[in-house]
Parts: sequence; structure tokens; C-alpha cells
Amino acid sequence: MIISVLGCGYLGAVHAASMAELGHEVIGVDVDPVRIDSLQKGITPFHEPGFDALLQKNAARLTFTTDMGAAAEATVHFVAVGTPQSADGSADLTFVNAAIENLIPYVTARDLVVGKSTVPVGTAERLSKLVTPTGAILMWNPEFLREGSAIEDTLAPDRLVYGVPGDDSGHMATALLDEVYAGILAKDTPRLVMNFATAELVKVAANSFLATKISFINAMAEIAEVTGANVTQLADAIGYDPRIGRRFLNAGIGFGGGCLPKDIRGFVARAEELGIGDALSFLKDVDDINLRRRSRVVDVLREELGFLKGKKVAVWGITFKPDSDDIRDSPALDIAESLARSGAAVVAADPEGWKPAEERVKRVGEEEAFSITPDHIEAALNADALVVATEWKVFQEEDPATIGGLMADKLVVDGRNCLDSEAWKAAGFRYRGMGRS
Ligand code: UGA
Repeated sequence: MIISVLGCGYLGAVHAASMAELGHEVIGVDVDPVRIDSLQKGITPFHEPGFDALLQKNAARLTFTTDMGAAAEATVHFVAVGTPQSADGSADLTFVNAAIENLIPYVTARDLVVGKSTVPVGTAERLSKLVTPTGAILMWNPEFLREGSAIEDTLAPDRLVYGVPGDDSGHMATALLDEVYAGILAKDTPRLVMNFATAELVKVAANSFLATKISFINAMAEIAEVTGANVTQLADAIGYDPRIGRRFLNAGIGFGGGCLPKDIRGFVARAEELGIGDALSFLKDVDDINLRRRSRVVDVLREELGFLKGKKVAVWGITFKPDSDDIRDSPALDIAESLARSGAAVVAADPEGWKPAEERVKRVGEEEAFSITPDHIEAALNADALVVATEWKVFQEEDPATIGGLMADKLVVDGRNCLDSEAWKAAGFRYRGMGRS
């Protein structure tokens, strides 16, 4: 089948290459010529394990272009553009609206338009009124991929969700998307068919649940910090109950990235628009707990060092999670910036995030108090304190005695509770975890 994918950011690029892997011929369209040029050359414009190889393996079935007209050849069109957060917290639909409007002249009566972007409930219903006059069908098929395991999540997802129109066209849409995903469905992947509103809600409900789970354990970390309890042991113990589960119960400096924070805020904004803001008021607490974790690290450093002005602090990690170069709403970067604003001399190190971070620091004029390096050993030289803010494996594998030998003072704040606390203490460090000592 010939497929177009509109929007070649993280979601779109991975989806395009994965559809080619399933044997389809894929045309990826994006307005950014630099991104398109890179993808066309088989070079990943972001860090995602295995993505370069997937692009190169499927190069013969992949075309990337800035010309929307190229989508005319395709039968199924995926819309995978971004829905960033607006100033008031709601989702900004400018790119989704533009993608659909620009695509419409090129779709024909046999076509299927499949929304993948995360949108506020009610969007698919509105957009279907624009698409149906062409004779094409619109459906919504939310994506659940995680950065760092995006390819596996796309090709072997936990489930497929189809939001379809209520009339007969819903059956046609389902049959056509089944054809596209035949290789995935053959692996007995659960496939759930529902109306537009439910499919749109599944996506934001899933991300809200995950965010709530993380903030729940971080609230327990706050309690543990004043009672002397250990939040990691607590998580292990409650996690054995299969109704609770241990995954996503890692306390630390909280969630960031391009999805969880913006999705909970967008969901709250949409509920308020619908006049049912009370239903989601708890998500504001989830957001508040999350943001408090970031200031907690700065407080711990103040407690330990007395003052921050002039202290050299090494921050290991800049990205919002390991195996990614994404610094969007990153707790690690936020902490590094707060420390720099408090007068500390910050050296932040990240194997992948250093590049986007360097560009950002230059853009916002923070070069004075804030230096960035890919080399975490260099960052630790003569530091008064070390903060581990992203749990990259390479940081966890470091020998505490060697690191202690490089630093001016042996203080470590383990923002992700990812270090072997006993080993660091044995090497002479004052160890401060998040909800564990
Ligand atoms: C998230 C969801 O997990 C995906 O299912 C979803 O498809 C995606 O958003 C999206 O909407 O596109 P992602 O943003 O890649 O995926 O990152 P996560 O793995 O969810 O991690 C989010 C943040 O939570 C990270 O900052 C991570 O460090 C933090 N986290 C995660 C914790 O603080 N504790 C945990 O136990 C787990």
C-alpha cells in the first residue's frame, strides 16, 4: 500500500520508517527542509536507538519531501504533527488544522485519513466534517510510543486503538487500517474499535494515569523525607500487588518531556472548557507535586552546602530521560538552570543532550554561569557537589571512589534514586536520595 505520513518529527518519522518496515511504500511530508533532507539521506535528526538502521534498511520504500502534493499518490494518510502547549495550557492545534487543510486538495474518495497526534476530545468530530466532503474517511488512531523504545512500541504495541465514525464508513476505515497494520495484528496485538471521543480520551487518560502514578510515589517520597522511610523499598513492597504494579513507581525529580506535562495540562484545560473542570482538578496536584521535586534538589543542596553562590555543582544528565536527546520540559535542565540562577557555577553533562542544551543556553544567554559538556568526568572535576538528574547507564556504572577523588567535596544528590547508595557512602560521600537516605 502507498502511505503518506504528515509531520516527520519524533512520532511521524518513526511511524513512517516503521510502516516501510511493514512493507509499505511511504511518503513522509514535513515543512522543515533541514529535517527532510536529513531523513532522505538516512540520517536521524534526533537520538533514538536503532532508528538509523531502520531508516537505512527501508530506504528503498521511503521518500521524504516538503511537497504536500506527493501525498496524492497515497491511499492512507497519517497525520502525526505536533500539538504543543499554548500559553494557557491548552493544546495548540495550529499544525493539525494546517495539515488537514493542506492535505484535503490531494485526497480522493478512496482514501483514509488517520489522525495520530494527541488532540483534545472533540477534535476528530470537527475535522471529520472537513474531510468527509471529499469522500475520504477520517479516523483517530492514537500512538503510545515512548522515546528510547519508539520502534518496538510502534511495531509491537501493547494495543491498537481505532476511533472511527459511527456510520458504515467506520467499518471501511477499520478494514483499511487492518490492512496497513496486518503485520502487527498477525502477532495477536489487541485491537480496540471505539468512537472518536473515546479514542481521543484513551490517549490523554493513559498519559494522565502514568503522570499520576509518578506523582503518587513522589508524594510518598515527600512523606518519606520527613519520617525517615525509604520510598524505594515502599515502591517495591506495594508494587508486588499486581493491582498496583512496580512499573512507573520510581520516585525522583519527576516527569518531563514533550508529552506527560503538556498532556495533563491540555486535558485540564479541555475539561474546564467543557465545564467539568472539577473532574480533573486532581491533575493540578499531580503537576504541582511534580514541579516541587525539582525545587527539592535545590533545597537539599542549600541544606548541605549552606549557600549556592560560587559553589561548583556538576549535574549529570540534561535530557528528560536516558537514551534520548530530548530536553523538552526536562527536570534535569530545569534544576541546572535554577542552580545557575542561584549563583552556583554549574557544569552539566549529558552524552546526547549536551548539543541541544548548548544551543538553548546560547539562545537564552546563560553561558556565563552554565557550561555544558558531553564528558561527565570533566564535569565532576573540583565540584563541590554532584547531582545525578538523568539515569543514564554510564553514570550508574561509575566508580564512586574514582569520582570522589576528582571532586572538591564528596556530596552526591541522587535525583533519580539510581545509584548504589551504600557504595557511594562507602567511598566517603554524603549521599542524599529522593525520599531515601
Ligand atoms: C510517554 C508515555 O510513556 C508514552 O506511552 C506515550 O506514548 C508518550 O508519552 C507520548 O504521549 O507520546 P515518553 O514521554 O517517551 O512517553 O516518556 P516516559 O517513559 O513516559 O517518561 C516520562 C517521564 O517520566 C520521564 O521524565 C521519566 O524520567 C519520568 N518517570 C518515569 C519517572 O519519574 N518515574 C518513573 O517511574 C517513570
